[in-house]
Amino acid sequence: MSNENTIEEANGKLGILTPGMGAVATTTYAGIISIKKGISPPIGSLTQMGHIRIGDRSEDRQPLIKDFVPLANLDDIVFGGWDPIDDNAYEAAMRAGVLEPHHLQPIREEMEAIKPMSAVFDQRWVKNLDGPNVKKGVNKLDLAEQIMHDIEQFKTENNCSRLVIVWCGSTEAHQEIQEVHQSIETFEAGLKNDDPAISPSQIYAYAAITKGIPFANGAPNLSVDIPAIIQLAEKNNVPIAGKDFKTGQTLLKTILAPGFKSRLLGLNGWFSTNILGNRDGEVLDDPDSFKSKEVSKLGVLETILQPDKYPDLYKDLYHKVRINYYPPRRDNKEGWDNIDIFGWMQYPMQIKIDFLCRDSILAAPIVLDLALFMDLANRNGQKGVQEWLSFYFKSPQTIDNLTPENDLFIQQTKLKNTLRLWMNEKPVTHIDNN
Ligand SMILES: NC(=O)c1ccc[n+]([C@@H]2O[C@H](COP(=O)([O-])OP(=O)(O)OC[C@H]3O[C@@H](n4cnc5c(N)ncnc54)[C@H](O)[C@@H]3O)[C@@H](O)[C@H]2O)c1
Repeated sequence: MSNENTIEEANGKLGILTPGMGAVATTTYAGIISIKKGISPPIGSLTQMGHIRIGDRSEDRQPLIKDFVPLANLDDIVFGGWDPIDDNAYEAAMRAGVLEPHHLQPIREEMEAIKPMSAVFDQRWVKNLDGPNVKKGVNKLDLAEQIMHDIEQFKTENNCSRLVIVWCGSTEAHQEIQEVHQSIETFEAGLKNDDPAISPSQIYAYAAITKGIPFANGAPNLSVDIPAIIQLAEKNNVPIAGKDFKTGQTLLKTILAPGFKSRLLGLNGWFSTNILGNRDGEVLDDPDSFKSKEVSKLGVLETILQPDKYPDLYKDLYHKVRINYYPPRRDNKEGWDNIDIFGWMQYPMQIKIDFLCRDSILAAPIVLDLALFMDLANRNGQKGVQEWLSFYFKSPQTIDNLTPENDLFIQQTKLKNTLRLWMNEKPVTHIDNN
């Protein structure tokens, strides 16, 4: 195989735009600014710290991923965002309480300079939230056009050659796909008619993809996973990916469950409960927003364990997920898992996990990696759903509604093999010397 690659180089500045400038987004900005200043290493980021093996084992070639594929350099990144709350990124980060003030002080000036553009926001989709920094428009098409204008203006003012958008906004209320979502035509008619089934995140997605900008969805609500947006992404040659950043308890589930299954250990029950006190927790206190999260969290075990193929082990699994809003904990979530497993001759065993987790600390490197990989995919001419980025999502979006892959290790293999293929290197199969 030749090592020649045809991916366009990452020349010029990359703008990372986040609808939503809350805990996750501001922790991402702060982390990247701190990394650029040499204050902290990029822990948790595959694009910055991960290596990839190339060729046969005997060759011992293991470059850093960022030296193997032409990713944007962190020094070329600029940030922007939209939020109904008009705090700048420093104020929002202080309010979110994820990072200690002494970590924000050295980067205060850069964070204060990131001010939210006015948002497309509608309280019907996020009940437990309100803010003054909201666009007004004659209809939803007008709102989408205002977002497109913001995008253009940001690009010019910041002298960016490319942009990517990562949704870091609150979880919107649960909805099923409706008629208006079925095609580009029905969706565009719906924008003009103010169809109530079109949510704000879908308006941002429409604006981005119309402008040719990759869009990744970090929340569990419907956004780029509706037929109209998928068709538009295909038509405009734009990569999309989703949904719901894989952090915390679900990350652990997709690490542990593949292990139990590999060793053919049975599962009767998996009870997960969380307390968290950040704004995300407050939004999820609303049953409609929680419903979006619940659907996304519950799906992972089913696809990993395949109870239809392994009925003796998994058909009676009782899986329950609870999230409780508990303000004193702020962003420092505590998640408990009680796992009832069984082994040889059906003897039961129990595993208890108490995860003192920092959700946004786990989410921030995902935002960075997604932004860099979506930009890479775009320069490599990829369009539509980017399944190879399933690694980062609780509820990975798939092509043609195929069953998603939730096993973290298979997801990692798929991601790395995709990069190898793009760079004309052979996939690693672990057969013989490979
Ligand atoms: N923290 C994690 O580890 C994690 C993991 C998976 C998914 N998520 C999802 O990521 C999203 C962000 O999480 P967070 O902890 O930063 O929440 P947060 O509440 O701190 O921030 C969300 C921000 O989005 C803003 N917002 C709401 N609607 C908006 C709109 N229409 N346009 C622009 N901004 C809007 C809110 O004002 C808020 O500032 C949530 O949907 C959450 O469920 C987070």
